[in-house]
Amino acid sequence: MRAYLMDQQDRDLGAAALRAEGILHWQLPTDEAAWAAPLQAIRDARGYVSMDQVHLDATTADLDGLLARFCAEHLHTDEEIRFVVAGSGIFDLRDASDRWMRVHVGAGDLIVVPAHKYHRFALDEARTITCKRLFQDASGWTPVPRTAAA
Ligand SMILES: [Fe+2]
Repeated sequence: MRAYLMDQQDRDLGAAALRAEGILHWQLPTDEAAWAAPLQAIRDARGYVSMDQVHLDATTADLDGLLARFCAEHLHTDEEIRFVVAGSGIFDLRDASDRWMRVHVGAGDLIVVPAHKYHRFALDEARTITCKRLFQDASGWTPVPRTAAA
């Protein structure tokens, strides 16, 4: 994971700075035999009752259409929880001053975007990611575009 303000790209934001914005991050192992137990412990502690897996790459149907949706600034009324199994991606999140924070995630990164936090997602140059989506309650999962909520 690497995190920075987009207007101060040479200064890394630490986990504490992310936590102050309500963003949680864990670095888990990249090997399933090693991440399974700590991931389950986090699920148990935080009540992430369901989980599925999504994969994006050049063969994904309508990849550009999907990315256009993910890349539009939005929020959710529930947490957005992603555990990166392979590949990499970019979460941009608004800080309390409405500046963009960029969090570049890769294999082993577990990130929790808090409810009601504006964000967007993009792939990086590698254009592929495999991640687990974890949910407390699937009914919270309607993106709210910023224009509609403003
Ligand atoms: Fe989202």
